[in-house]
Amino acid sequence: MADSFSLNDALSGSGNPNSQGWPGPWGNQPAGAGGYPGASYPGAYPGQAPPSAYPGQAPPGSYPGQVPPSTYPGQAPPGTYPGPTAPAYPGPGPYPGQPSGPGAYPPPGQPSVPGAYPGAGPFGIPAGPLMVPYDLPLPGGVMPRMLITILGTVKPSANRLALDFKRGNDVAFHFNPRFNEDNRRVIVCNTKLDNTWGKEERQSVFPFEIGKPFKIQVLVESDHFKVAVNDAHLLQYNHRMKNIKEISTLGISGDINLTSASYTMI
Ligand code: GAL
Repeated sequence: MADSFSLNDALSGSGNPNSQGWPGPWGNQPAGAGGYPGASYPGAYPGQAPPSAYPGQAPPGSYPGQVPPSTYPGQAPPGTYPGPTAPAYPGPGPYPGQPSGPGAYPPPGQPSVPGAYPGAGPFGIPAGPLMVPYDLPLPGGVMPRMLITILGTVKPSANRLALDFKRGNDVAFHFNPRFNEDNRRVIVCNTKLDNTWGKEERQSVFPFEIGKPFKIQVLVESDHFKVAVNDAHLLQYNHRMKNIKEISTLGISGDINLTSASYTMI
């Protein structure tokens, strides 16, 4: 498992949708969506597995890192999320000497993301869905090997959803699935600087479905963001805003029910 995992393999890719052949055995999964290597309770954060779980543990058919069935009220039941067996992006593995970016790992027992869990339930797990729009603070900015995971469900009458990696009012990376743009489904990506949108990058591969749960993973790499949905690579977006450490917030908005938003280093 982890022994056969090559980070170089993980971080290479052509940028063409679904052409990257994400390796199957990715090694250990995070303790939760965005679990930290070695993280333990309390102080874990949204999507984190409860104390009884451990990295790699996932009930059959569930999203890796989701809590076991019936553990906490308000958590998604098993099988709610697309149940992958070969995740597109690895979770944190026990890699010796793994660097930690600024603010990447909180002190033991501390919340990873201040204010990340409104209405936190036992062990800091959100007791219910997160409010949308939702801002996930990214203290220290983003950096290569940072993996952001968003779990949610598309509302039945959805028109759009968006992720916005923000630096103040600027948007370094806008990821915007549109369910009905002139009767077509399209994903629009762009950057907004000084209140002005740049040139759109459009993607017609559209993995989201009305009314269905989804998992979005954004892996930050040195030259681009890499996005996978439901464990399949979707697209890459080259960094137009070069100083990615200045990205301080991920805004999540649109017609979704949001279950969790979290990050980790891989
Ligand atoms: C605009 C839209 C913005 C954003 C932008 C991306 O038309 O109003 O929300 O999606 O396109 O280019």
